[in-house]
Amino acid sequence: SPTFDLVIAANRLPVDKEVAEDGSIEWHRSPGGLVTAMESVMRGREAAWIGWSGDAGDPPEPFEENGMYLVPIGLSEDEVTNYYEGYSNDTLWPLYHDVIVPATFRRRWRSSYERLNQRFADAVSEVAAPGATVWLHDYQLQRVPSLLRAIRPDLRIGWFNHIPFPPVEIFMQLPGRETLLEGLLGADFLGFQVRADAANFREACRRLLRAPVKGDVVTAPDGRRVRAAAVPISIDVEELRELATSPETLQRAKEIRAEMGDPEVLLLGVDRLDYTKGIRHRLKAYGELLADGRLDPRKTRLVQIATPSRERLQAYRVLRGQIEQAVGRINGDHADFGDTPVVYMRRSFPKEEMAAIYAAADVALVTPLRDGMNLVAKEFVTCARDDAALVLSEFAGAAGELKRAYLCNPHDVDRLKQTITAAIDAPADERRKRMRSMRRAVLANDVHHWAEAFLASLQAAPELPAEES
Ligand code: G6P
Repeated sequence: SPTFDLVIAANRLPVDKEVAEDGSIEWHRSPGGLVTAMESVMRGREAAWIGWSGDAGDPPEPFEENGMYLVPIGLSEDEVTNYYEGYSNDTLWPLYHDVIVPATFRRRWRSSYERLNQRFADAVSEVAAPGATVWLHDYQLQRVPSLLRAIRPDLRIGWFNHIPFPPVEIFMQLPGRETLLEGLLGADFLGFQVRADAANFREACRRLLRAPVKGDVVTAPDGRRVRAAAVPISIDVEELRELATSPETLQRAKEIRAEMGDPEVLLLGVDRLDYTKGIRHRLKAYGELLADGRLDPRKTRLVQIATPSRERLQAYRVLRGQIEQAVGRINGDHADFGDTPVVYMRRSFPKEEMAAIYAAADVALVTPLRDGMNLVAKEFVTCARDDAALVLSEFAGAAGELKRAYLCNPHDVDRLKQTITAAIDAPADERRKRMRSMRRAVLANDVHHWAEAFLASLQAAPELPAEES
């Protein structure tokens, strides 16, 4: 097979499979930030991408799409259950998000994860040219760096964590926790969303592996020095801003407001339907504001877009039920002919429509209980009107950059209510100042900047074993 100087591996390929009516298979570029980000890195370079095609069964042969060489990894039904739904999303996901729901530990899941990570490492090794750069993504692939180094010591290996890295007191719960840390230390550079995540990782190495840590650098068990630092991810600001300010989008934004009866206050939530996102807390706060008479149900709308996700997992099914019950209760208590205080849509929208929805909103409620970064916050800031406001959780990585948002602790429902009303009631001038300041912050670090910063850190990573430095 052909080999490449840049190899990317993530749990998912950057394309989604679609089976046409005549049974033929088509691949469409996946929506979402990572794909945009990587496209900008891969442009003008020969690159390969290794990832799962998204369903169970035999994988298709490698193919070319959009100038990328795509290598599908096949998961059997068992592997979907054990590696993807089990270990990745029922063990690691809750553990890395402050155990908002309890993490489940099953030995069977762990061995499946190990096998899949080995398969990813082998697939990378197949297509990586001598001395190639390898960029691995996210919590599903934490064993790959060391498994890959064992077969290909010539490669430069980087890994970026899109989600939080938990404090050591929580991480310690993980059975075989040392194995994951050693897995990651196979890399040359490890990137995290915010400094606290990188610090948590280094502290876990120090405490659980007795690894020496100096500044950003951890000395791995084999004596190599591995840097772990923050490189916060972002969005393609220019592309999105162009879309958001186009006459078509602005027109559509007006229509959206009109279709909802031109509310005085249009609140907006946009999330994957996930328990980390704080959707229940947000609905609770909104319902109480209506019940308290602080918001008028005839003049206020909350548009809640919830994209279906990981629907076979119990925690996600339970959450969906809770959200739908809360929406039903609020509308049951406050709706009137023509007035529906919560407009709940459990689906996703194309980016053109998203830009218009962002531009239509008065206040976005981005209130996760824990989130690595949260790109919705950055997308909103890019698309919103100057006098719109952002209510943002302190537990989103984005809060580190968007300091002029209306920040709040979403666990504290009273404060959440106060913050929402403060954002609604603030003078337009105040909101404009804040929005402009946040826009500057997003512009200062767009996704191209992020990708270049990551690759530069990877190239500059310390190469020498600790003894020789
Ligand atoms: C988060 C993770 C990604 C993941 C995405 C969607 O953003 O960081 O790795 O791809 O959620 O979840 P899914 O399980 O559908 O891939």
